[in-house]
Amino acid sequence: MCGIIGCTGRDDAVDVVLEGLATLEYRGYDSAGMAIVSGTQAAPELRVVKRAGKLASLRHAVEGQSLPGRSGIGHTRWATHGAPTDRNSHPHVSGDGSLAVVHNGIIENHEALRAELQAAGVELASETDTELVAHLVAAERDILSAGDGAAPTTDGSRLAEALRRAVRRLEGQYALAVLDVGEPETIVAARYGAPLILGHDDGVSWLASDIAGLIAHTRDVEVLLDRQLAVLTPGGIAVSDLDGQESEGVRYKVDWDVDAAEKQGYPHFMLKEIYEQPQALTDTLLGRLGEDGTLALDEQRFADGELRRIDKVYVVACGTSYHAGMVGRYAIEHWARLGVEVEIASEFRYRDPILNPHTLVIAISQSGETTDTIAAAAHARDQRAPVLAVTNVVGSTLARQADGVLHTRAGPEIGVAATKTFLTQVVAADVLALFLAQERRTLLPEEIADAFARLEALGPLLEQVLAHDERIAELAHRLAGADYFMFIARHAGLPIALEGALKLKEISYLHAEGFPAGEMKHGPIALIDDGGPVIAIATRSHVRSKLLSNLAEVRARGAVVVALATEGDPEIAAAADHVIALPDVHELLAPILAVVPLQLLAYHVAVALDRDVDQPRNLAKTVTVE
Ligand code: F6R
Repeated sequence: MCGIIGCTGRDDAVDVVLEGLATLEYRGYDSAGMAIVSGTQAAPELRVVKRAGKLASLRHAVEGQSLPGRSGIGHTRWATHGAPTDRNSHPHVSGDGSLAVVHNGIIENHEALRAELQAAGVELASETDTELVAHLVAAERDILSAGDGAAPTTDGSRLAEALRRAVRRLEGQYALAVLDVGEPETIVAARYGAPLILGHDDGVSWLASDIAGLIAHTRDVEVLLDRQLAVLTPGGIAVSDLDGQESEGVRYKVDWDVDAAEKQGYPHFMLKEIYEQPQALTDTLLGRLGEDGTLALDEQRFADGELRRIDKVYVVACGTSYHAGMVGRYAIEHWARLGVEVEIASEFRYRDPILNPHTLVIAISQSGETTDTIAAAAHARDQRAPVLAVTNVVGSTLARQADGVLHTRAGPEIGVAATKTFLTQVVAADVLALFLAQERRTLLPEEIADAFARLEALGPLLEQVLAHDERIAELAHRLAGADYFMFIARHAGLPIALEGALKLKEISYLHAEGFPAGEMKHGPIALIDDGGPVIAIATRSHVRSKLLSNLAEVRARGAVVVALATEGDPEIAAAADHVIALPDVHELLAPILAVVPLQLLAYHVAVALDRDVDQPRNLAKTVTVE
């Protein structure tokens, strides 16, 4: 949700910022902009270019302009305050144009700040909350320049001290980067509740909202923590706290390289990421089961015996990750014999759930930065409930705040619609279920090993499912004219029906809904009319015969039924107009195979309708606002 980038120490800062924005565009694409310190050493000047629309509009605007400069900041926006216009695009500048700010997050006390600034005679050029920050920092800088006797700070930057004073006035979340002609080769950054990653190598310093923005330059990164500031110069990066005392973020080496964030010949990132799923599954399982036959988490800060005393589980997540949590519920209940509630994080955080030290809260988030999921986890911790995070991003806010972490190892996911991160979340949830079964001794070690081996065996089976791609593309072209799709399923297939509907609506903009098949006759069946597609997850399970009846009911009312069925199931084949056959696996693991045809269906429908598959309208990859 908005991407910010910064670079100081390169003669071609403008190109570095543009390239960085290209890698971050999936975080938001309502507008893009940049500020460069240009001019001469004796007379530096701040140049700002910004445009509504995708990055291509900014590139077009920059082309033909001479923007030499060694330091720059950039922004790609997912609009919150103010429509996506040129005026509201970032960077925002101070009244005298000497200082520019880019921002990811929301300043919640913007109304009070706006009133205060306007009362002081400041003229505002936009409707954004970010512009207020530019004026606040500039005002603090001017007070410091006039000399107020403040002690020098460890980083020696007046701009840093001005930002420090300004952020003390802010309520809400922010990742901010500030550029000022007065300190032409310095970028100052601050964070609270929105991610910011730093990198330095060989006379150049960078900052970015996520690793994708830095990976072309360095794999050694430092995650800035909440209430920290960073001063970036070509010589290095100094991190400090809000009191100006030296501090440190979390440093680590990124274990994927720049190729992982390229399309590699696929027409879209989404298709590439769908095809990466067999490998992502294998990577997520790799080395999990130790030689002694025990499963371990990636990070474990639980007290001794804490997990053994758990008597209730809540799973909290948003969107696709919520669906992964729903799949996980079946496995945790079945294998670990624990009661599980799965909750939308934005609802959970404002409820008053009964939590205590015996309640385990599992927070699932591919980005590890989703504001609602982080807040739901914090809500749980406030009531002394232990929190376990499942995330794809090492060092993310959620991972750092949890008592234990299980990483999905899907690699970078650039397509805005989650695919391989979903599949690996489901795999991780299954591993977690087995891990809890091990801790609680509800399964024997050989039963755990057997279930784990079944999970590992899914890799080659996923390849078989992907082989249906061409058929699914044909089907998608045939169905793309429909204006309403229903997805139905029962038991562990239900979250896959919901996920199939979400995927389709996200990228094709068609109306799609998922329902428990048994609920159809209680209302939704009224929606069925002649030729409307109903996609059913009808693989082998203890509820398959019930689903068979539901298929007959919708078909009798004119629906065109597409069934995902287990190979060699003549009854389902007879009950459907189109069948996609899936390998026969344990019913709790079947969702991992069943989601793939639905991802492909959504993809091909979106392509048939000429939609922007990787950057669907109104969406952004990481949701760092409420
Ligand atoms: C859908 C999608 C979103 C995310 C949701 C949570 O394709 O990607 O629904 O699943 O925004 O994001 P994370 O998992 O980063 O918390």
